[in-house]
Amino acid sequence: MGVLDGKVAFITGGGSGIGRGTAERLAREGANICIADIDVEGAEHTASTVREFGRDALVVKVNVASQPQLEDGVARCVKELGRLDISVANAGIGRAGSVLDMSLKDWQDQVDINLTGVFLTVQSTAREMVRLGNGGRIICMSSLAAENTGANSWSYSATKAGVRMMVRGWAQELGVHGITVNAIGPGVIDTPLAHGLAGDEGGPIRTALEERTPVGRAGRPSDIAGLIAFLSGPDGEFFSGSYLLMDGGLRDAGRGWAAGDPNDPVTQERMRHMAAGEQRRARLQPLIDER
Ligand SMILES: NC(=O)c1ccc[n+]([C@@H]2O[C@H](COP(=O)([O-])OP(=O)(O)OC[C@H]3O[C@@H](n4cnc5c(N)ncnc54)[C@H](O)[C@@H]3O)[C@@H](O)[C@H]2O)c1
Repeated sequence: MGVLDGKVAFITGGGSGIGRGTAERLAREGANICIADIDVEGAEHTASTVREFGRDALVVKVNVASQPQLEDGVARCVKELGRLDISVANAGIGRAGSVLDMSLKDWQDQVDINLTGVFLTVQSTAREMVRLGNGGRIICMSSLAAENTGANSWSYSATKAGVRMMVRGWAQELGVHGITVNAIGPGVIDTPLAHGLAGDEGGPIRTALEERTPVGRAGRPSDIAGLIAFLSGPDGEFFSGSYLLMDGGLRDAGRGWAAGDPNDPVTQERMRHMAAGEQRRARLQPLIDER
């Protein structure tokens, strides 16, 4: 028996990283899961783990920048899994770039997915929750980057700061329907998105990060998943309109692992990860453009 027995969670970006960790954790707590992602292969992988826990899993191919796709995905979730109790607006991308160089396309993709995508996810799931009348829990993915930024991360930060503020307004409106809305601010969590910041286990980036982080390690998807499980369960009932930073203490510890010297091993490892990140982007970009 888990604290979420019989509940249904709709998770965007559930095919990788934090979203996958969340799907697995909520399933362990008893929830059935709808995984909404552009990456069906990744989502199916998550679904198979959810089923191993004896829970129902449904994969819906959804681009969060598309209102019709989201509405269709949410409708299928309710029809096939029977209800909707938890919504995790997690899908997001990062596009680094200076103000002089960033293309309008990179800016727009980030706004469409990280900001409009969160709005559309919350709107479509909250409408169903209000219609069903059982209340609900909504968790939106912000970031430590909503508080800290830099010459290359300002555009990502702008979207994450927007999420942090939007939940405050939504919490005001949705409380009367028994729906809570909160934002989470992860620090550096080792996922494909942030692998260049977390580095390889035992490598120079990871070592520098571990030295900087007060708790002495990189974040794991399971850390954030645990917080989402808490907010989704009975102990989370009195949180609404909040932003919960979960960064192992990194915010106030500086950004010293982001070195720039090309002979520095940290920089060299970063360059390798950037190349791998470009390859992943080349795979996902056509799916992002398909809406
Ligand atoms: N990893 C970190 O350190 C970190 C820190 C702070 C915030 N975050 C945020 O957490 C969230 C999850 O990030 P992650 O690190 O797990 O990344 P990830 O890249 O591992 O996973 C993101 C998932 O979202 C999906 N996705 C991307 N664009 C989509 C779209 N338009 N529609 C539907 N699905 C889409 C991808 O296919 C992927 O499965 C993001 O919002 C990210 O900004 C991550």
